[in-house]
Amino acid sequence: MADYDESRLTVVNHPLVQHKLSILRDKDTGTKQFRELVTELAIFEGYEAMRDFPLEDVEVETPLEKTTCKRIAGKKVAIIPILRAGLGMVDGILTLVPSARVGHVGMYRDPETHIPHQYYCKFPPDVENRTCLVVDPMLATGGSLTAAIQFLREAGVKDIRCLTIVSCPEGVKAVLDYDPDVRLYTCSVDRCLNENAYILPGLGDAGDRIYGTK
Ligand code: PRP
Ligand code: URA
Repeated sequence: MADYDESRLTVVNHPLVQHKLSILRDKDTGTKQFRELVTELAIFEGYEAMRDFPLEDVEVETPLEKTTCKRIAGKKVAIIPILRAGLGMVDGILTLVPSARVGHVGMYRDPETHIPHQYYCKFPPDVENRTCLVVDPMLATGGSLTAAIQFLREAGVKDIRCLTIVSCPEGVKAVLDYDPDVRLYTCSVDRCLNENAYILPGLGDAGDRIYGTK
């Protein structure tokens, strides 16, 4: 049994997601396809993460008659990518919510200590009134994601949902233990971290694979 609050974790494991994730993991998948797959997987995750958005009635006149339909009741969204790799998920979420604002948290992990260092942070002015979707393909130790959550809480954000493509038990526990209200979405909880805090089996360095920097 997992030693974290599983009710706040959603594993998005649709067959198409599992299929695309397998291609993403393959070391022979090139930069172009890797980027496209990250975008596609972000769409699946965004779809799940916004499943509970409230609806309201709206009158619509079809070519045949008037009818009552549904529309989303005033939910405002901000997408918060953790740079760099999180940027790869932004377009996918914008496909679903074109009017979303985008804030950025810049962080890199120290290669020796694995502790995240912040180099940039900018949120939309009304971020506290928005549902914030924090996006980053990898959740390893959880250091980067918990730091991003901390910045958003300090900015007054109430509704935080974190979308990550590959995670591991250590990172999931770190995030869910850090914040009792945050919700987490992932396509896979992998086996563990290695001695360099890389996820096993994982997919390697997501930022380098998205941007072709290695
Ligand atoms: C990667 C990844 C996450 C972080 C996860 O970013 O995109 O942000 O590591 O590790 P953690 O859970 O142990 O904090 P990285 O620091 O390599 O920067 P990059 O996106 O610029 O490549
Ligand atoms: N960051 C990555 O990009 N991959 C990992 O496995 C861990 C951290």
